[in-house]
Amino acid sequence: MHHEIVFDNVFFEYPDKSFALKNLSFTINIGEKFAICGNNGAGKTTLLRLLLGLEFHQKGKIKVQELELNRDTVREIRKRIGFVFQNPDSQVFSASVYEDVAFGPRNLGFSEEEVEEKVERALEIVDLSEYKEHSPFRLSFGQRKRVAIAGVLVMDPAIIILDEPFANIDYPTRRSLQRILEKDVIEKGKTLIFTSHSRLLIENWSDNVLFLNKGVKLFVGSSSKLSDFPETEKFLGKF
Ligand SMILES: Nc1ncnc2c1ncn2[C@@H]1O[C@H](COP(=O)(O)OP(=O)(O)OP(=O)(O)O)[C@@H](O)[C@H]1O
Ligand SMILES: [Mg+2]
Repeated sequence: MHHEIVFDNVFFEYPDKSFALKNLSFTINIGEKFAICGNNGAGKTTLLRLLLGLEFHQKGKIKVQELELNRDTVREIRKRIGFVFQNPDSQVFSASVYEDVAFGPRNLGFSEEEVEEKVERALEIVDLSEYKEHSPFRLSFGQRKRVAIAGVLVMDPAIIILDEPFANIDYPTRRSLQRILEKDVIEKGKTLIFTSHSRLLIENWSDNVLFLNKGVKLFVGSSSKLSDFPETEKFLGKF
């Protein structure tokens, strides 16, 4: 069976040796909602950075769509992945919302007409059409997050990764983001990977979950089984 992503005994340590992800093995299926959870500093963002080739693991193997991730394949792999950073300010930088979302498709060489069509559609999906002439820096946190998500959806990647998409987001906005992701990612057979601290959210809104603690895997499997592991409760609580 083909997996979207395979981690096989992956070890990564930062150059200052302050933190390591230790011998991580797990797989992510095509078309699933896969959650990565764990406390602050557990290594969630570090793991996502490895997947994007922003850092390189020192041992083991990472495969994305059967392609082994290394310095030669990283550019090809990045084309297949859309990444929404934990902090929208890391990726929202243009003078207007429209320009920001247009950046990716323009880079791919689409005609201005095609760019416009794609951007209008992406802004409609995230419900920001009215804001297209606004400066992203004057929008609220949740709105900037949606600009970043539009900037990824517009590229139509096979794999979408979101780092803490629901942190600091109010309930109606979260529900609407979840609907957007259901419709534009899951229903199209794409793979969604996200990090979260919320047990309830993970239990209700993911297929499988990887639970990390200090760079070590505590649990991987169906999110409905998370409650069978009482040790996870001391990290996640009940919510
Ligand atoms: N560039 C770096 N150099 C050295 N250590 C780093 C670097 N970036 C992160 N770390 C360390 O790696 C550990 C894991 O950080 P990471 O950001 O992956 O955690 P996280 O699970 O995403 O946490 P949070 O829930 O707060 O987002 C932390 O102890 C952090 O200090
Ligand atoms: Mg993080």
